[in-house]
Amino acid sequence: MKIWWKESVIYQVYPKSFCDSNGDGIGDIQGIISKLDYLKDLGIDIIWISPLYESPNVDNGYDISHYQAISKDYGTMEDFDQLLKEAHSRNIKIVMDLVVNHTSDQHQWFIESRKSKDNPYRDYYIWKEGKDGKEPNNWASIFSGSAWQYDEATNMYYLHLYSSKQPDLNWENETVRQEIYHMMKWWLDKGIDGFRMDVINKISKVQTYEDILPASSKYMKPSRYTSNGPRIHEFLKEMNHQVLSHYDVMTVGEITACSIAQAKQYTGENEDELSMLFQFEHMDVDLGKYGKWTPIPLDLVKLKTNLTKWQEGLADDGWNSLFWDNHDQPRVVSRFGQTQEYWKDSAKMLATALHFLKGTPYIYQGEELGMTNYHFESLEDCKDVEVFNAYKDLVEERQVLTHEEMMKGINANSRDNARTPMQWDDSTNAGFTQGTPWMKVNPNYHKINAKQQINDSTSIYHYYQKLIQLRHQMPIIVYGKYELLEKDHPDLFVYTREYQGEKLLVITNFSTHEYDYDLHDFSDGKLLISNDDIKINKVIHIKPYGAYVIKKS
Ligand code: GLC
Ligand code: CA
Repeated sequence: MKIWWKESVIYQVYPKSFCDSNGDGIGDIQGIISKLDYLKDLGIDIIWISPLYESPNVDNGYDISHYQAISKDYGTMEDFDQLLKEAHSRNIKIVMDLVVNHTSDQHQWFIESRKSKDNPYRDYYIWKEGKDGKEPNNWASIFSGSAWQYDEATNMYYLHLYSSKQPDLNWENETVRQEIYHMMKWWLDKGIDGFRMDVINKISKVQTYEDILPASSKYMKPSRYTSNGPRIHEFLKEMNHQVLSHYDVMTVGEITACSIAQAKQYTGENEDELSMLFQFEHMDVDLGKYGKWTPIPLDLVKLKTNLTKWQEGLADDGWNSLFWDNHDQPRVVSRFGQTQEYWKDSAKMLATALHFLKGTPYIYQGEELGMTNYHFESLEDCKDVEVFNAYKDLVEERQVLTHEEMMKGINANSRDNARTPMQWDDSTNAGFTQGTPWMKVNPNYHKINAKQQINDSTSIYHYYQKLIQLRHQMPIIVYGKYELLEKDHPDLFVYTREYQGEKLLVITNFSTHEYDYDLHDFSDGKLLISNDDIKINKVIHIKPYGAYVIKKS
């Protein structure tokens, strides 16, 4: 089925770090408004904005204390309404983050819920008795330690899959679901164009709340009891029928672990659940023994195999989101590319490899400039609750990593890498703020910034602009069939797309090695886009981090 959200390119704004309009060091809504023309020129269709709601900011807004209020840091509801209007007047849609697996512990519902066992809001959250003076079970929080927090007032524990200040909502409770649907309708009636649904596959839990056995450590990841749970599809269908189906909107679910079959259930055309999903398998290929904190070198064959599994798996039903970066991932050019000599080429190469796949591409703020990871000297440079909890767990308590090893992991993969301020120009603080930024700006902003790249026709920014234009012009890029070539090649990621008699060949080099590549039946084709300057011949020379897209004539 052809539909607008398949033909769109989405840009993610992390508001805290995007643009500060009033000098308090924190990005805000007026800042976003001031950059709408920049985004329009880039060519994107939709902006997904990470949470703008009222929040104590334990997890930068993913802990919401009021779903229908704008955080004072970001502005007012009038500012938001203006943003929506200004975006729509430029033909840009706005997608909001929907964080309903949990709230903040400062949400009114939770403040009530924790007061007493018979409070009307008690069952809005998941409360359990302790076992032998300990937590109700051995589930681990995704942010380290136990997933249960003891609460003195009632001598019971509440569940928090993330930080202890993010209590999980009880979706078994019909009243909770109705409250959420009501809130969603309120936003949709304002005219927003959809939701990105935070960890949405975790809202239905297996109700037995049993220990995970055998236990190889004190706390065990509970995902088999908390991901894609028994009532997940029932809840999403209910949400769709009661809310989403009444509006022409798109949804993307953050689905942290699922099979192809499950992905089809979430996003299949006749399922009435979600438009598309974010799954993370391709982001897991370089994780080591302690996950992201001990990365291993990229194995390109593994990455290609995984991307191909998802391309083929959802070829005829369901829909993929395409992304390298977001606010939870390090910068891709630092991760799978190169930040020295081949910085520019590798950033363009990575963009090419991703944007010619089938699915809806996402660009995370600064990715279009090739923004890189930050260099964190010490923990004081870090801001993210995940870093502090993991450090405490791995270095201080379990002592499985040294301080140096952990700092290496933080530099490679911490979420803070994505959250340094956007680099607009080469003035103080990269033009992000007139004040003191809430988080340090990457010192490389003198070299890497939007102003410079807008003025340079060979820049990464202009390359992204062209990728977006091509997607808008050529249905083959949206709807064409994908096929992997050279599946065992250690350095080259090569694939074709095919649609209504047209054919594209995409060649990307993930290494500094050079190759001669025989184009076979693309030998008299046309070069659509490349980071190299070549003539199409029977055999072309592939440069380090080269990217070539050839249209068959
Ligand atoms: C999602 C968000 C992440 C947040 C977590 C808890 O994974 O992307 O930033 O910390 O959910 O809400
Ligand atoms: Ca501000």
